[in-house]
Amino acid sequence: MIATLLVFYSLLTVVYSDKMANKERTFIMVKPDGVQRGLVGKIIERFEQKGFRLVALKFTWASKELLEKHYADLAGRPFFPGLVNYMNSGPVVPMVWEGLNVVKTGRQMLGATNPADSLPGTIRGDFCIQVGRNIIHGSDAVESANKEIALWFDEKELIPWTPASNDWIYE
Ligand code: RTP
Ligand code: MG
Repeated sequence: MIATLLVFYSLLTVVYSDKMANKERTFIMVKPDGVQRGLVGKIIERFEQKGFRLVALKFTWASKELLEKHYADLAGRPFFPGLVNYMNSGPVVPMVWEGLNVVKTGRQMLGATNPADSLPGTIRGDFCIQVGRNIIHGSDAVESANKEIALWFDEKELIPWTPASNDWIYE
């Protein structure tokens, strides 16, 4: 009896932790050049068709103060002032996407930072040419994703939901 209960409990734990793994979140943002070039729909489509879940999205013209916080790690780099000006030159579309390994897979979907090195089939590889106009941002680690999500969104703007397709995407 106890053995049966133990087996049942461990099965439940495996299933539960598996489902929790599917709840990883990343912060993705269409940059001003992506918005100006009408690529918002195409970029959202890539994440939707992959099977990731949209958790939050907004359309906003970010302040320099917010952008300086967002890219604080790069504050000492020579391109930092130009980067902040570029990011502040028009509206952006910040988003939160959720799913299994979404941070790492999201980065792969974006492609290398410099579009000259981004493979065809990636977003940067298909849609842009220069590093200073690389149309999209994606978090580089789970920890930075959580920081960026908290910087751009209030907790109440993050919408937990289960798409009808969920059981056809995850086994
Ligand atoms: P992001 O944060 O925007 O997703 O880009 P990333 O991780 O691939 O690259 P990161 O090193 O974080 O750089 C942030 C953004 O700064 C611009 N950049 N310009 N002129 C340059 O040498 C240079 N290097 C980076 C790019 O817009 C890059 O995405
Ligand atoms: Mg980065």
